[in-house]
Amino acid sequence: MEDLLKQIEQYKQEIDGFVAKAADEVEQFRIKWLGTKGLVKAVMGEMKNVPNEQKKQFGQILNEFKLFAEAKFEALQASNDVSGKSSAKVLIDQSLPGDPVSVGSRHPLSLVKNEMVSIFKRLGFVVAEGPEIEDDWHNFGAMNLPEDHPARDMQDTFYIKKPADGNGPTWLLRTHTSSVQARVMEHQKPPIRVICPGRVYRNETISARAHCFFHQVEGLYIDENVSFADLKQTLYFFVQEMFGKDVKVRFRPSYFPFTEPSAEMDISCLICEGKGCNICKHTGWVEILGSGMVHPKVLENFGIDPNKYTGFAFGMGVERITQLKYQVNDLRLYSQNDVRFLKQFTGVV
Ligand code: DAH
Repeated sequence: MEDLLKQIEQYKQEIDGFVAKAADEVEQFRIKWLGTKGLVKAVMGEMKNVPNEQKKQFGQILNEFKLFAEAKFEALQASNDVSGKSSAKVLIDQSLPGDPVSVGSRHPLSLVKNEMVSIFKRLGFVVAEGPEIEDDWHNFGAMNLPEDHPARDMQDTFYIKKPADGNGPTWLLRTHTSSVQARVMEHQKPPIRVICPGRVYRNETISARAHCFFHQVEGLYIDENVSFADLKQTLYFFVQEMFGKDVKVRFRPSYFPFTEPSAEMDISCLICEGKGCNICKHTGWVEILGSGMVHPKVLENFGIDPNKYTGFAFGMGVERITQLKYQVNDLRLYSQNDVRFLKQFTGVV
């Protein structure tokens, strides 16, 4: 019986020191020790050779051994696979390096919009926002575009609902962020110095150069003695901060119903550096914004005395600025959510 006791002691040590690296090794352990032809069964079978007077004592020892092997098996199962179902699951090797977590990135339009806003904030502008679903008055009427004004055709509007009875406002998707100018003047009195970033909508066929929604940043500054020189100075500052000192700027007279005089501003093409390409239509210049002195009628619409106050306003497209900054040649890329495009902006803040 000495031999049996020794044997059990050896087995116990072996069981104790067993480590499973994979679920199938746990199963092998079960077969070896607890299976129908396993060693525990074999040891139990020795009972028949134990003399009667020692049966009680050995019974206890053998039972303990069986419980010992079973407890080890349970522990192996628990640490290897919580579900206990998959036998192919690999134990976690804690010494392996971790899987890298892929980091998201800000959308290029957000990056550029944030930069634009931060440049104007440095000049004392504060952010103002307005609704994307607008009424006719804030989008057009208040901005000196009465109903029959031909300039309404400049912007193909998505109308949402015409009131059945002809009463109440006509709702539309705002076609420009100039509507936020109206919202601000409605509630604030001069001095006003706001920057209004936001999404706008126009009924355009989607192509590389046009989209049915895009983003603008609007600026409005109203105070006593604000002049066209202030407008130019502000926009020069913006362009230099955004694109660097070397970029050239030019103003061209233009027309907007809400400004008088009006001007569009071009910068030298950053894609071809003025040599001529299809972005600048081979002129070497790219238009980036519309601007002007706020029309006296617009001021009057909000009870601001045009004899006391003057102001300038401007509006520019975020997509266009982004295109020049990051050389994006197709507007559709901004909204296709293709990670190959988006991940190029990882790490840009
Ligand atoms: N609202 C114009 C547009 O969407 C852009 C614009 C032009 C805004 C002149 C202005 C401005 O504030 O003064 O085309």
